[in-house]
Amino acid sequence: EDAVRQIEAMPKVELHLHLEGAAPPDFISRLAAEKREDISRIFRRDGSYAFEGFVHFLKVYEAATGVLRRPEDYARLARAVGEELAANDVIYCETFLSPDFCGGGDVDAWRDYLAAMEEAAAEVERDLGVTLRFVVTCVRHLGPERARKSALCAAETAGRRLVGFGMAGDENAFEQKDFAWAFDCAREAGLRLTSHAGEWRGPEEVRAALDHLRVERIGHGVRSVEDPALVDRLVENGICLEVCPGSNVALGVYPRLAAHPIETLRDRGVRVSVSTDDPPFFHTSMRAEYRGLARTFGWESEVFGELARASLDAAFCDEETRARIA
Ligand code: HPA
Ligand code: ZN
Repeated sequence: EDAVRQIEAMPKVELHLHLEGAAPPDFISRLAAEKREDISRIFRRDGSYAFEGFVHFLKVYEAATGVLRRPEDYARLARAVGEELAANDVIYCETFLSPDFCGGGDVDAWRDYLAAMEEAAAEVERDLGVTLRFVVTCVRHLGPERARKSALCAAETAGRRLVGFGMAGDENAFEQKDFAWAFDCAREAGLRLTSHAGEWRGPEEVRAALDHLRVERIGHGVRSVEDPALVDRLVENGICLEVCPGSNVALGVYPRLAAHPIETLRDRGVRVSVSTDDPPFFHTSMRAEYRGLARTFGWESEVFGELARASLDAAFCDEETRARIA
């Protein structure tokens, strides 16, 4: 148990965190109260988020996100999330942001939101020692047209802080290839690419993300394990999977952590990183993820050290930033 406590306190790198999904429920309910909005239906009596299953999760997520309106609301959120990250010994984190929620895809509105969040991120770095980088995500179930707008927002504001483009949302809506224009646009702007795949649909989704969107990381991607040839391809191409074990168990992708393929994927030589996805929704944290993996798979501190290094290697930041953190 002493060993587990030491592991929990190790410095961590997190690559897959939805900013709105990291909003503590009391942060959202306080904001709702300030705006005199009643969103009590999305909370349980104990104050946690209330949802059943993935599709309902996305609805509750969007309802909670609805109280975030002004750039200043997002700046406050980024500071609150920075504090959670610091409390979990996270030293580097990439968070997903969505122009669909921040200005509705309008580039000028998006610039104001991004500026507010960049300022907050600079404060978090200075005051809490957590380096933050941003990845714009389009929302799959909103469709390719909206994704195109998100990509244009991202391309216009790419830089030192905004380093990547990706896709979240409902994996059962549309096809990866429908979003090729958005990903091409982001790539041409110098952004690095990732897409959610292989969480709700099987290995063919991961192949589609690699073939059509030419991403270098996959959000989740855990169901790749069902196709040995795909696993070989991930290894050969050094594709990093942004694995979120607690999220997968909370949403029922796997019945329990012991049944999660992260151990098998690692053994096969796939680059895996560990993240929390939407931590308060899934009752998790980076410390809890580390604790669970140490207890369930008997991973020792060397494994977690390797994991953090592999994650930093797969990070979308520039080399100078990487060298400063390593
Ligand atoms: N998965 C997919 N889409 C999302 C998520 C998630 O965990 N959070 C917000 N959008
Ligand atoms: Zn996610």
